[in-house]
Amino acid sequence: MKRTIKSVFNKKNKKKIICLTSYSYNFTKIIDDLVDVVLVGDSMGNVLYGMDTTRSVDDQIMVNHATAVKKGADKSLVFFDLPYNRDFSESTTVKRVLSIMKKTSCDGVKIEGNTELKDVIKYLSKKKVPVMAHLGLQPQKFRSSKKFKIYGKDKKDLDNIISDSLCLEKSGAVSILLEGMLTNIAKEVTKTLSIPTIGIGASEYCNGQILVSEDMLGIFRDNHPKFVKKYADLSKNIRVAVNKYSNEVNNNKFPNKKFRYD
Ligand code: KIV
Repeated sequence: MKRTIKSVFNKKNKKKIICLTSYSYNFTKIIDDLVDVVLVGDSMGNVLYGMDTTRSVDDQIMVNHATAVKKGADKSLVFFDLPYNRDFSESTTVKRVLSIMKKTSCDGVKIEGNTELKDVIKYLSKKKVPVMAHLGLQPQKFRSSKKFKIYGKDKKDLDNIISDSLCLEKSGAVSILLEGMLTNIAKEVTKTLSIPTIGIGASEYCNGQILVSEDMLGIFRDNHPKFVKKYADLSKNIRVAVNKYSNEVNNNKFPNKKFRYD
């Protein structure tokens, strides 16, 4: 059965919300019935395009990938990441979100930012566009992923994130993604909010979890953050298969009778 915003985000504390990233039609088809939400993350900048920052992903790249992902999702909800833009004014942001929603038919949008987004979220909620806010470590704030800093080391961080998350909840966000933060901060935010939190590098206290699929499957080899558990080593499997293919072609074992047209 197709998941709905209500069936996924109204289950705070009843069942964990399972999320993963995808950027393609085929991969989405593989994971579709196993997850609640597929995020077309701007992490594609790093893991798919080899960019050093997610800031280089633009709206057109997002539209292309989100369209493909949405085609492969029969059951899960598809959210796209709003790409970085220098103009973060309310009117431009709303226009961009509505345009990408229209072009891709996604189920919702994730937006990095703090209380400056409150009117954007209010407006989008009225237009029935579900918004997942994104607090804590916000990759779009960094020019290089090598400079990422874990959130929560400053004394004021807890108070700030509690008031920001309450503000975004009041504005109508359906959920808040918490990235790269100290455990006590994620725990407090999750306890305080009525809407569910989705964590990445934010402890087991969140109401749901997300990982970048290429990280957890062992496909992305550039870096390996502490919070990533590798559930498979697909790089190794791919290399074994390609090596075998190469040997068989070299030794005239492939193709053979079975794989040819006579
Ligand atoms: O772009 C992305 O993949 C993200 C992660 C936090 C899941 O935003």
